[in-house]
Amino acid sequence: MPRKILVTSALPYANGAIHLGHLVEYIQTDIWVRFQKMQGNECWYVCADDTHGTPIMLRAEKEGVTPEALIARVHGEHFRDFTGFHVAFDNFHTTHSPETQFFANDIYGKLKAAGLIETRSIEQYFDPVKAMFLPDRFIKGECPKCGARDQYGDNCEACGAAYAPTELKNPYSAVSGAKPELRSSEHYFFRLSDSRCQAFLRRYTREEGRLQPEAANKMQEWLGEPGEDKLVDWDISRDAPYFGFEIPGESGKGTGKYFYVWMDAPIGYFGSFKNFADKKAAEGHAIDFAAFTDAAVAAAAGTELYHFIGKDILYFHALFWPAELALAGYRTPTSIFAHGFLTVDGAKMSKSRGTFITAESYLSTGLNPEWLRYYYAAKLGATMEDIDLSLDDFVARVNSDLVGKFINIASRCAGFITKRFNGQLAPANAELPAIRAIMAAAPKIANLYEGREFGKAIREIMALTDAANQYVDSVKPWELAKQECKDAELHAACSNALNIFRLLTLLLKPVLPALAGQVEQFMNIAPLTWRDAQSLLAAGHGINVYCHLMTRVDAKQIEKLVEANKESLAPTPEQGSQQRHAEHQQKEAIAASPWEPFCSIDEFGKIDLRIARIANAEHVEGAEKLLKLTLDLGTETRTVFAGIKSAYDPATLVGRLTVMVANLAPRKMKFGMSEGMVLAASDPECKTAGLFLLSPDSGAVPGMRVK
Ligand code: MSP
Ligand code: ZN
Repeated sequence: MPRKILVTSALPYANGAIHLGHLVEYIQTDIWVRFQKMQGNECWYVCADDTHGTPIMLRAEKEGVTPEALIARVHGEHFRDFTGFHVAFDNFHTTHSPETQFFANDIYGKLKAAGLIETRSIEQYFDPVKAMFLPDRFIKGECPKCGARDQYGDNCEACGAAYAPTELKNPYSAVSGAKPELRSSEHYFFRLSDSRCQAFLRRYTREEGRLQPEAANKMQEWLGEPGEDKLVDWDISRDAPYFGFEIPGESGKGTGKYFYVWMDAPIGYFGSFKNFADKKAAEGHAIDFAAFTDAAVAAAAGTELYHFIGKDILYFHALFWPAELALAGYRTPTSIFAHGFLTVDGAKMSKSRGTFITAESYLSTGLNPEWLRYYYAAKLGATMEDIDLSLDDFVARVNSDLVGKFINIASRCAGFITKRFNGQLAPANAELPAIRAIMAAAPKIANLYEGREFGKAIREIMALTDAANQYVDSVKPWELAKQECKDAELHAACSNALNIFRLLTLLLKPVLPALAGQVEQFMNIAPLTWRDAQSLLAAGHGINVYCHLMTRVDAKQIEKLVEANKESLAPTPEQGSQQRHAEHQQKEAIAASPWEPFCSIDEFGKIDLRIARIANAEHVEGAEKLLKLTLDLGTETRTVFAGIKSAYDPATLVGRLTVMVANLAPRKMKFGMSEGMVLAASDPECKTAGLFLLSPDSGAVPGMRVK
């Protein structure tokens, strides 16, 4: 029976760019989810932007836009970045949504009905100029312990002391600079000190598999011994002005208080999943939402819920969130998987050193996202240990393992199959040690993926890759190819090697989904699933022409990346003039465009593009690449010979609309006169990566002009 699994990554704040630190988490989760899907499990991966709170409200104000406009823009940027790294959420939603508000109100209402919400008046710093209460991070002053100036309201960066904002000396508001005043206001609390919460959390945090061992220990520390009552009630409300959801009052009226962002953020997991389930239902695919979220239904259905998070937000996910859920009758997380923090070259990411690297800059510098996925996978384990991105090691590992060992297998063997054997494989030898080793290791590697021991999985796969290369080195296809009467040996050797390559691709597919897609296309096989690890390709299986799959990292690209992320301090006048000079040069560089020579609008106007219906399509005897098309232009028909045989079965073309060059001078060809040309897309470097005929949107009819 396939498992039913709901997976989340933490919801990124909607006021900043995605960077390589974030990506540790999203790539880790994505690999795990892709592995589950390859296993045939029903696995849904949802996320959302975390959009509420004071920082987002103030940021929008500073930019002169509404918070709604800000979060909409950032949502687009985040989605673009995740997609660029092949992080494939089933749904990427927002917490500023009716679904999230619904569940926030519902959970709050149920906790309240259970007597777990209490209101109390508290004293807090208030900014009299901005007329708002100040979160700790927006109050600054002198450290009460060491006297360091300009320290935040919660802890001192100079001496590390932790304190309450009211202990700061000479406090001031970081928003307006004004001296804050103490004012009291009514707040809403979730009564974590209640014996029901305490009892639940003591049990939950010790249950097998809920938390990693080091996380469970931390929780015991936070909970204290029974009777110690270390856990205090949690303040879940904030005063206006605040960007968030208003807390509902009695009789449908609001309370004028807002849910604290950390109250509705995890609820956003369910909000996103509900939004997804509703969209699927509209498409006719029902997902049983309650089976994943309701305590009783979930228990009966045996569904699983996993949260991937950073160790910095463990407190919220291992204490507040499960307690809220359990006491409101919702299902609790099956496990919480916390990971460590990313360092770059052994140190915290730094804007001045250029190691605070944004996802967007990585991609726009032209680095391959799968290089990073591979490197992170090689470094990730199941613990909360920090992981280091060593830039030199990154280059070395990608080049030697991924390109030098893995890709190398295909690039050394595929050409012979195409050139010498008409693209067809000989039967593979199932007894070959390199093949047997992979088939035997596949279940163990599956267990490593399941247990988030990706580094160990990669090590196993690379050992198998080494054995595969030893096989290729021992049979030496390039030498067999030069000798006479060695055709059968060459055919067998390359067929074995490509079968091995297919199996290794399968094992790496959760980490390298795009590359695996290219391999599937080149090998002409259906999308690989884990079950395929126990099978080989049939004799006679035809492959497509091999195109180079992945290039090496050039160390210069890394230098460029770090340079692009260096946040320069305010420029001196001289630097200012240098900068202007550089900008000027950059403008000149833009003038020398790679798109030159340009085509003028008049020149373009000479080309008459028309919609045509393919009235007939047939093979041409003796032509290797051509199909003969009869194109209907509405007023006349044309015969066109098109080089699209490798990509299309003529029968599938008849009746469809496409775009043709109608005024191309007729050309006499070996097979007859060609009276025009159809347009198709392809990769300029590698035609065999596919050909894609253009089609107009529905509504277009034959003869229409395309401009
Ligand atoms: N909005 C909260 C999470 C709410 S979940 C209901 C938040 N957002 S965040 O943008 O700061 O971080 C999102 C995730 O990225 C968190 O799990 C965080 O731990 C992780 N990381 C952010 N910086 C990181 C590193 N430098 N290294 C590894 N993970 C990091 O927290
Ligand atoms: Zn201090």
